[in-house]
Amino acid sequence: MNEIGLIGLAVMGQNLALNIARKGYSVSVFNRTPEKTQEFMQNKVKDEQIKPYYDTKSFVESLKRPRKIILMVKAGKPVDDVIEELLPYLDKGDLIIDGGNSYFKDTSRRIKELEEKGILYLGMGVSGGEAGALHGPSLMPGGTYEAYEMVKDVLLKIAAQTESGPCCTYVGNDSAGHFVKMVHNGIEYAIMQAIAEVYDVLRKVLKLSPEEIAEIFEKWNNNDLNSFLMEISYKIMRYKDEERGKYLVDLILDEAEQKGTGKWTSQISLDLGIPTPSLNLAVEARSLSFFKEERVQLAKRVTKIYPEIDIDKEKIIKDLENALLFSVFTSFSQGLWVISEASKVFEYNIDLSEVLRIWKGGCIIRAEILDFLRDIIKENKENVNLLNSEKALSFLMDKIDSIKYITNLAKDFYLPMLVLNSSLDYFLSMIEENLPANLIQAQRDFFGAHTYRRIDKEGIFHTEWEAN
Ligand code: 6PG
Repeated sequence: MNEIGLIGLAVMGQNLALNIARKGYSVSVFNRTPEKTQEFMQNKVKDEQIKPYYDTKSFVESLKRPRKIILMVKAGKPVDDVIEELLPYLDKGDLIIDGGNSYFKDTSRRIKELEEKGILYLGMGVSGGEAGALHGPSLMPGGTYEAYEMVKDVLLKIAAQTESGPCCTYVGNDSAGHFVKMVHNGIEYAIMQAIAEVYDVLRKVLKLSPEEIAEIFEKWNNNDLNSFLMEISYKIMRYKDEERGKYLVDLILDEAEQKGTGKWTSQISLDLGIPTPSLNLAVEARSLSFFKEERVQLAKRVTKIYPEIDIDKEKIIKDLENALLFSVFTSFSQGLWVISEASKVFEYNIDLSEVLRIWKGGCIIRAEILDFLRDIIKENKENVNLLNSEKALSFLMDKIDSIKYITNLAKDFYLPMLVLNSSLDYFLSMIEENLPANLIQAQRDFFGAHTYRRIDKEGIFHTEWEAN
């Protein structure tokens, strides 16, 4: 009898099975197409305790009770299909763990449906890509605590290990785990786009080669910007395409794809009324990139007149580093704010400082700055967007001239900067006492009698604007 079952042997599933087995657990594996299972057993499994099964019944029967089955299948219908197939063979008290990027509302539904049948269910965010799954991912399980306790030991062992402990915690009730993973991806989109915008200035304004950009990114990675995304970016810059003898990054089509997690983050943020402009615009930037044909045609029809500016290379590089730090901070700020609001609205009961801790290793947005963010939130748990702190304000105000300079410079060169601009605008909005929303309220009242409130007296008012 094996201790853990795993269904879905795409690369993430394969690597997670290997990781679990290498921590001393016996694993049963199953995949819809048997060829994949055979291939995995032949090519990847060596002396790990992993046993293949070729039908659902014998797979389930191979597991110790209460059974613990991890699903690593594509989000959406495939998850429901696998659950359907499993159900006839499961007993009350068995546990299913969905380790895919499932939409959190699907996870909530599945938890409820299965609870009625006596089956426990965890929605678990798994971050870190293929390498993370094999060597230690960041794990974000959510559901009932009872369900978490059943697999707590194995999860803590297979997760990435950091100075502050394993990158796994009980995230919270219901779909909290998948919600947090979704927002992780929203932040991931924003940071990736911010790095890309900075890269655009380095190549188009400073006219640096990928190798020169790699040197700058590597230097930043040894400093405050130290992070997985910075590290892979300098490695990407150095990679040469052997066939053409050119840098591969220069040969890749500029159309950024997306599977939906970033968009879901924006959608729910809009529903919850929490401002996440940098996360939203990172999604928009990917959408804009997809209109390559239109962009090529329109670019031919306009004449861009570049200003005569003295380029101070050292200043620009320093300001880019600061602007990126500013944008990374504000992207985390926006993401945490959404998580905090969702935690209240959906009663997830999420500890933000724990979320920051488990993002410190294994995951795609792991970064040095997370320690700083965690210090800020530890000082004041109510500071859910991190802004309400002397440390945070001086961190951002120290960098504000840099991001102002960079976004203006980008405009001089006709370079779009959806995320850097929105990071600055987010902060400017948050530190502005009087926004022009008074005019919006007046306009709403003018055309729709939507009413407004006043700063000089209590109450709800409406004005017959044209009568005056
Ligand atoms: C992770 C990643 C992972 C995946 C993204 C890619 O944390 O390991 O986020 O889950 O790479 O979902 O998303 P897009 O295809 O939407 O860029």
